[in-house]
Amino acid sequence: MAQEEELRRVAASRRAEKVPTVIVDDVHIVYKIYGAGAGRGSATSALSRMVRRKASPAISEVHAVRGISFTAYKGEAVGLIGSNGSGKSTTLAAVAGLLPTQSGSIYTDGQPSLLGVNAALMNDLTGERNVVLGCLAMGMSYAEVREKYQGIVDFSGINERGDFISLPMRTYSSGMAARLRFSIAAAKTHDVLLIDEALSTGDSAFQKRSEDRIRELRKEAGTVFLVSHNNKSIRDTCDRTIWLESGVIRADGPTEEIVAEYEKYMKSR
Ligand SMILES: Nc1ncnc2c1ncn2[C@@H]1O[C@H](COP(=O)(O)OP(=O)(O)OP(=O)(O)O)[C@@H](O)[C@H]1O
Ligand SMILES: [Mg+2]
Repeated sequence: MAQEEELRRVAASRRAEKVPTVIVDDVHIVYKIYGAGAGRGSATSALSRMVRRKASPAISEVHAVRGISFTAYKGEAVGLIGSNGSGKSTTLAAVAGLLPTQSGSIYTDGQPSLLGVNAALMNDLTGERNVVLGCLAMGMSYAEVREKYQGIVDFSGINERGDFISLPMRTYSSGMAARLRFSIAAAKTHDVLLIDEALSTGDSAFQKRSEDRIRELRKEAGTVFLVSHNNKSIRDTCDRTIWLESGVIRADGPTEEIVAEYEKYMKSR
């Protein structure tokens, strides 16, 4: 009897426990740049290397992320802030599995999807084709794509000023392309959704819509990471924020505290 009670107690505490979705453990990321030595590509430097019988220029390295660790949980929206070049995009790309780590490990539960400003859409295809391809690439069936299609187009607002969805993507402004990209990615419930400044390109009406959608995605139980230089977006969408500076975590905690600290730091620079 006592044992049964004990089991029930353990089960209850398990349910209350937070479920980790992303674990980053002492990760270092180093970019290797080949042939970046002095005089790269110039004929005279190549000739002088030949004459002096020296090897081609050494590989340069950029140590972009220097030993960061954090754990994100189901239902969390985590903001990533920090000055230019602090390692935010690099961290997201590594969590998405697109960059190898030099050392340390990254564990994710489920498939992370990176929604970057550079996410691949085909410029020569129409918006419509891109929606279909994007959905299929995210693993939807044709039936699901058909079901979601109109919702994606409506959400993007691409057709508010004429029938742009049947024109090639190269006729879109960068903001329009970013809106379509976000709308496609947001049509699916992601286990781990990584957003790199996708919101900053849209106009304010679209920004508000996408922030609402991020909150919904959060409720649908995934984990959302948001990289942004817009502190208001971070405040409105994230309850936890990680502040990166020169590839290390400077602070990690409640958004309000961390963003206030960051703003003070930026003013003092
Ligand atoms: N493809 C690359 N090859 C070499 N170095 C890179 C590459 N991408 C980024 N870096 C370097 O890695 C460091 C971190 O860059 P990262 O793009 O992660 O910064 P960020 O925090 O996203 O900056 P921003 O706010 O400007 O977007 C920088 O020093 C940058 O020069
Ligand atoms: Mg970046």
